[in-house]
Amino acid sequence: MSNTASERIPLKARNVSFSWEDTPLHWLPGDPFTTHTINVLHLLLPAGERWFVHVYKQVLPYIKDERLREDVIGFIGQEAMHAQAHDEVLPHLKERGLDPTPYTAQVDWLFEKLLGDRTLPPGRARHWWLMERVAMIAAIEHYTAFLGNWILNAEELDRRGADPTMLDLLRWHGAEEVEHRSVAFELFMHVDGGYRRRARTWATAFTALVFLWQRGARFFMANDPTLVHGRASLRDLHRSGRAGTLPTAGDMIRSIPRYLSRGYHPSQEGSTEQAVAYLASSPAATAAEKAAAHRSNGGV
Ligand SMILES: [Fe+2]
Ligand SMILES: [Fe+2]
Repeated sequence: MSNTASERIPLKARNVSFSWEDTPLHWLPGDPFTTHTINVLHLLLPAGERWFVHVYKQVLPYIKDERLREDVIGFIGQEAMHAQAHDEVLPHLKERGLDPTPYTAQVDWLFEKLLGDRTLPPGRARHWWLMERVAMIAAIEHYTAFLGNWILNAEELDRRGADPTMLDLLRWHGAEEVEHRSVAFELFMHVDGGYRRRARTWATAFTALVFLWQRGARFFMANDPTLVHGRASLRDLHRSGRAGTLPTAGDMIRSIPRYLSRGYHPSQEGSTEQAVAYLASSPAATAAEKAAAHRSNGGV
């Protein structure tokens, strides 16, 4: 039942690596605002995706469907790799004079303490909190699929000369988000599926994402060593949306009723075919596949 039957593909983690020496601080040339708005991903995802993995390991015993269990295990492998790949961008930012630690320390606190296991006794309270978090992850994955689909189609970034390594990181990740976009929602429907919980946790996740994103963009703009009085404003967001270098506010708003519709299924968002095609051409993903094939043939 997991993944839509017609397009189900086994999920595997690709052991990618990126080298950041040649990537400039403003990897979208002449556009620090767009660069830093997208850079917020590097602040949120390492802690956020490790939190997904932490929560999902606890929910595995509740899965009664073998195929869904396989998908969840594949999902865990992919998210762990995403967290690591984004984490590796942070030292590069620091070398370029932009120390992300004050912000990432807060994000770590949020995921480890506020959204962590808490000291709940076994029983109803602990189960309730686990289900809340499973539902929150489903809501967040609606947005990671939305962003994944967007980045795969954001040709304006190519036209404006975006750094190819950063684009590959974003598109490899975005393609895997599209590839596994049904897993979190199907897991939530399998272990709970309550509509009130879906709506409530969507509201929490959406509010938190908007809050963290605008704070992260402001943090980067204010601390960018090349900018005097760097700021991030809603007007910049609209401008980048119109230019095609960020998703538009309209697209983001239209994504809300889709998730809250009772007939929602993530397979309606994005294209598995496009995601798989990107992964087959991504420099990082193809290098990872070659290295894996070499290892399985007995190479070192
Ligand atoms: Fe991810
Ligand atoms: Fe994901």
